[in-house]
Amino acid sequence: MTSAAHVGSNLNAMEKLMSNGLNHLHVQDKHVFPLGDRPDMSQVCHSYTFPVIDLIDLDGLHRIKVVNDIRRACEEDGFFQIINHGVPETVMKSMMEIAKEFFEMPVEDRVCLYSEDPQQAVRVSTSFNGTEDEFFEWKDYLRHPCHPLEEIINSWPQKPALYREVAEKYCKEIRVLVLRLLAAISEALGQDSDYLNAIFGKHSQTLHVNYYPACPNPDLTFGVAPHSDAQGITVLMQGDVSGLQVLKDGKWVAVEPISNAFVVNVADQIQVVSNGRFKSAKHRAITNTTTARISIPTFYGPSLHTFIAPAASMVDKEHPALYRGNKFEEYMRASWSKGVKVEHFGSLQNRNQSVMNLCCTYLAFLIIRD
Ligand code: OGA
Ligand code: NI
Repeated sequence: MTSAAHVGSNLNAMEKLMSNGLNHLHVQDKHVFPLGDRPDMSQVCHSYTFPVIDLIDLDGLHRIKVVNDIRRACEEDGFFQIINHGVPETVMKSMMEIAKEFFEMPVEDRVCLYSEDPQQAVRVSTSFNGTEDEFFEWKDYLRHPCHPLEEIINSWPQKPALYREVAEKYCKEIRVLVLRLLAAISEALGQDSDYLNAIFGKHSQTLHVNYYPACPNPDLTFGVAPHSDAQGITVLMQGDVSGLQVLKDGKWVAVEPISNAFVVNVADQIQVVSNGRFKSAKHRAITNTTTARISIPTFYGPSLHTFIAPAASMVDKEHPALYRGNKFEEYMRASWSKGVKVEHFGSLQNRNQSVMNLCCTYLAFLIIRD
């Protein structure tokens, strides 16, 4: 690219990012979701609480109880929060602070990482997939792989100056935690503790920082539109500003922040491996009028070349395979290329169902049909 073209594309990126100091002041048309596919806060349930699981006993005498709690949560909710998870508070706090600094730097310091190409592993972008989205989410994000760390850390952001150091510590702690969770979830599936570890091949871990500016009209748009996560398991630091909502028995349920807890959810690949026994629940994030919100999910799953299908031990006469297998790489490509769109299935009757199909899971792609 010539330097003139480069300056031009940087200008373009600067205009697109929500975190440019201007775009969050008005809700532009592209951020307005169609009537019937908006958040509808009056319908949100605040009375159900997703399970809060204390991991203090995970490596002690009461492991079986903790594993049973995890099994129930994965079967019935797909979401739970964890406390006493072993990640030091200081490491969590520093990560949240450096993420905030990242999005509070002048926009010029972020545009060098801007890309709308999902193949660009390290990138800053806006909405979900800016070239495919029909409706734009009210967010910017930074994302980068973090495993294997030595191979990738040199491509991480160089600003703020401490970013790499802080994020490295965070990613290492999260990986230790995820490996403990994968062992427990394997046991919850009735398998030995190495089961998911082996199925995930060489593993992949992606750090993703969502930045949702305050929004003048949260009723019109989403921070993240309804979706399920494409990887294996997600560990989310949601900070102390609420916004996350999960679909439970047809109702959107708010997940209120618990200080220093993580939100954990089953993602698509564990739903597939478990042949539908563990649920990759749909969720979304809404914005608010007063406070910018930062959430930091870690998406953890198989390495790209790993083939993922319902595990043989999860399939029998009573439980025929629900999904066809897929290389994880293909699944990811398909899920990114979909963009935020509303799918309408013909009749008016189905119209109020369309929120279910908005930027939804790519699992439909895998479902075996005859
Ligand atoms: C996501 C997501 C939820 C949140 O980034 O996939 O679901 O609370 N985020 O920001
Ligand atoms: Ni998600």
